[in-house]
Amino acid sequence: MKSNTRASRRRITPFIAAAGVAALVFSGCSSPGAAPSAAGGQAPQARAPQAPMLAPDADKGATGDIVFCGGKDTGIREATAKRFNAMQSAIRVSYLELGADTSAARTAAIQRLEGGSTDCDIYMTDVVWTPEWAQQGWLYDQTDLVKAVGGEIIPSILSTTEYDGRNWAMPFYTDSALIYYRTDRVKAPTSWKDLYAQAAADPEHKLLLQAKAYEGLTVNFLELLYSAGGSVIDEQGKVVIDSPQARTALTFMRDGFKNGSIDPASLTYDETGVRRAYESGLGGFQRNWPGAWNGTQASEAGPKTAVAPLPSFDGTGKPAGVLGGWNLAVAQKAKNPGASVAFIKYVASEEAQRQMVLETAQSPIRAALYSDPEVVAKIPFAPQLKTSLENAKPRPKSPVYAQISRAIYENVYAVLSEGSDVDAAIKKMADEIQKAQETF
Ligand code: GLC
Repeated sequence: MKSNTRASRRRITPFIAAAGVAALVFSGCSSPGAAPSAAGGQAPQARAPQAPMLAPDADKGATGDIVFCGGKDTGIREATAKRFNAMQSAIRVSYLELGADTSAARTAAIQRLEGGSTDCDIYMTDVVWTPEWAQQGWLYDQTDLVKAVGGEIIPSILSTTEYDGRNWAMPFYTDSALIYYRTDRVKAPTSWKDLYAQAAADPEHKLLLQAKAYEGLTVNFLELLYSAGGSVIDEQGKVVIDSPQARTALTFMRDGFKNGSIDPASLTYDETGVRRAYESGLGGFQRNWPGAWNGTQASEAGPKTAVAPLPSFDGTGKPAGVLGGWNLAVAQKAKNPGASVAFIKYVASEEAQRQMVLETAQSPIRAALYSDPEVVAKIPFAPQLKTSLENAKPRPKSPVYAQISRAIYENVYAVLSEGSDVDAAIKKMADEIQKAQETF
């Protein structure tokens, strides 16, 4: 749709590592900023090709249908589409579910994108997909739209939409994991070591986590690695995962399976699997995202559940988590980019973000909502949510992130499920990440 595009400027300056950002820094929660973080790391940067720019006013007079595509709906996606459809009649959004977990959703989306499909106007993109999708030339450039409406968005969240100095998406919601725990069985963990010790004490205290071989396992491992002081790639782009901290984190996780801290069924769980098992009364601890709150709350386990931020590794270091979340990207093959802009503006608005957090406990992208009295009154764990966001660090930012992550989760999974050697697994992981980096 040429009318809302404009040839984007050819970039002649080297890529500025503006996005190596991330630990959230809220100052009193009203003026958040971003600080550099070493944990996620910068892979060497490649240029993203030129892409048509979405004009911020492309929604003027827009009408018709749009299809919004993404992974399994946790309630928030269809609900948001429904609210948008109810408040106006010119545009109709429908949600198309692509895959169960994030890795499956990415595969299904990429099959469509590579095949030139026009099925989806908007893709819900995991925060780690931005560099790859920008580099493949699948997306509209949203830099102008982000400039026009993104002023109140927390900088570290906004940085997940950036690659090669441009914004390729608009944040939808952010994610940083929490520990849900049974107040009748266990206590709030003071460290990961304390959590594992409490969990091993009784089969009813077990920790349920996501250890299926997919993106969620990468995140679970990185949460331990980051809190043990390790990282994947350093600020210069050097692979540094072959480290004592990585051995400590992986040995700790393996021993957690061996000594009964972690429910062995975790090897088959994604986020939904963990939530359902916990809701059925299993375990003392559930590691999950804020989006698990509503389901957990409504279950029998709900009244006996409290929430804590992820702890430090052993009580001495800093707590650390992984920055998750989802963005809205517009496909260059979108049939209706103008209406897509209207929907995206709505999703990022303060009103839609407030409704989202009140109804689903998904973490909003706007800083002010974390201290909004209505939100604080309704979401009992708003302070824990804020702490966990402040401690969240990004995953490596790279067009080959999918390969980097696969190198992590496959090698971690082999140790957890087959008991393969920790040292060899870390070396292999580092080697595969290095090779992935060399492919572009
Ligand atoms: C959540 C996070 C996402 C992460 C995924 C892992 O959906 O928001 O960033 O990649 O979990 O399973």
